[in-house]
Amino acid sequence: MHVIALATETDFEGWRDAARALALNDISPNDVTWTVASRDDELFAASTLPEFDPRHTFSVPVAFVELAHVAILNRDPERFARLYRLLIHLRQQPHLMDISTDSDVVRVQGLAKEVRRDEHKMHAFVRFREFGRDDDFRFVAWFEPSHYIVELAAPFFEQRFADMAWSILTPDRCAHWNGHKTVFTEGAVKSAAPSSDPLEDIWRTYYANIFNPARLKIKAMQTEMPKKYWRNLPEASLIEPLIAKAGRITQTMINREAPAPRPSRQRKEEPAMASPAPIKSERLAALRAEAADCRACPLWKDATQTVFGEGPSHAPIMLVGEQPGDKEDLAGKPFVGPAGQVLNRALEEAGIDRDKVYVTNAVKHFKFVPRGKIRLHQKPSTPEIKACRQWYERELAAIKPALVVAMGATAAQSVLGKITPIGKNRGYLIDLDEAKALVTVHPSYLLRLPDAEAKEREYANFVRDLKLAAAFLHKLKAA
Ligand code: URA
Repeated sequence: MHVIALATETDFEGWRDAARALALNDISPNDVTWTVASRDDELFAASTLPEFDPRHTFSVPVAFVELAHVAILNRDPERFARLYRLLIHLRQQPHLMDISTDSDVVRVQGLAKEVRRDEHKMHAFVRFREFGRDDDFRFVAWFEPSHYIVELAAPFFEQRFADMAWSILTPDRCAHWNGHKTVFTEGAVKSAAPSSDPLEDIWRTYYANIFNPARLKIKAMQTEMPKKYWRNLPEASLIEPLIAKAGRITQTMINREAPAPRPSRQRKEEPAMASPAPIKSERLAALRAEAADCRACPLWKDATQTVFGEGPSHAPIMLVGEQPGDKEDLAGKPFVGPAGQVLNRALEEAGIDRDKVYVTNAVKHFKFVPRGKIRLHQKPSTPEIKACRQWYERELAAIKPALVVAMGATAAQSVLGKITPIGKNRGYLIDLDEAKALVTVHPSYLLRLPDAEAKEREYANFVRDLKLAAAFLHKLKAA
């Protein structure tokens, strides 16, 4: 009997070298015991590798090597033996990999399939939480994979969360990303990871809002999200109460009369045949073109042009300002003047990429009074804000952001549909029908503050509000 003790549970090179030596010595799979050093000290001490001449070798199909790399990550203690058995049979039957009914092939493929499924679940169910402060700040997640998949799954997180520092802790192995590379360390215990963070309630509220009881299929949901993952999912505590309420809520939805469309949204004529819904970017482009000719209030008469929103059509965050200023009116773009510069700096400090958010205004035309050579900004009136709201609503419906940030009182009035004082309502997320809203000050307010100390303090508060938006975004991405 040969005892082969591998260095670690995922020691593919060790397995390959031993398997080659055994196969070249024609050792039957029945005469080999496989183990791992850390698992079994006694067997490790008894480990014996038969002699072999390294010049003697043999080849195996690439398909086998690829499959073995994945299958070896399965937690099944028999995996090394199963792989060796398949290797021996392959030497006798080189085309065995093409025989989909062969029992050795089927078993090893089954091992690899379980590993791939576990990897997929890890991608879907890792939930990061905030951890540490300042330079040590990072997002940390606890996950309990079924197989040895941390290294296999890590590249997905490197790509998806490239711009955040994160660690994924598991009982077997931990992965730590610093924005450039991933370092792997020994396994950890659950208590090493944070068990909640300040945004958890926000995330749960968001989850409860997007939960659609009318689409509930409990069996499919549990196949996709098996119960064993629930203990590490913040939203899991909501699942059972939401399921329990689903029937009643669906019935209420069915009983509710469909609301009549707002006058501004009513079609003038129904098209003869319903055309497919245009994709988001086309919808936005069409809206922009339509808004260019807006005459819903008198502001169009003196303004140079309509300044429509700008940004990706799938943006998760929509920033809403008051109205274009002098520079914006000339450029035809929102927030390109002095207020735009403050906004850009604050976004950068909050960790939000302006190119990834949609930026617009509650009112799309510049309102001003001429004073000599300058055009002096005037606050839009409530009828002007109301007349323009249709464009904000239609941008919102096209983009469907998860979060709307209203900057200043005019934006807050438009976004929340009522006069909303900033001081009392900033710093927390407010429910909209299909998104969240965050209210903060307008960047121009910061420019107008008379003393440097107030400017600095208010600017820091503005950045703090935007950081809440950034954290919400990270949370969304991590979900
Ligand atoms: N102020 C705004 O509210 N919007 C702009 O686009 C520029 C300044």
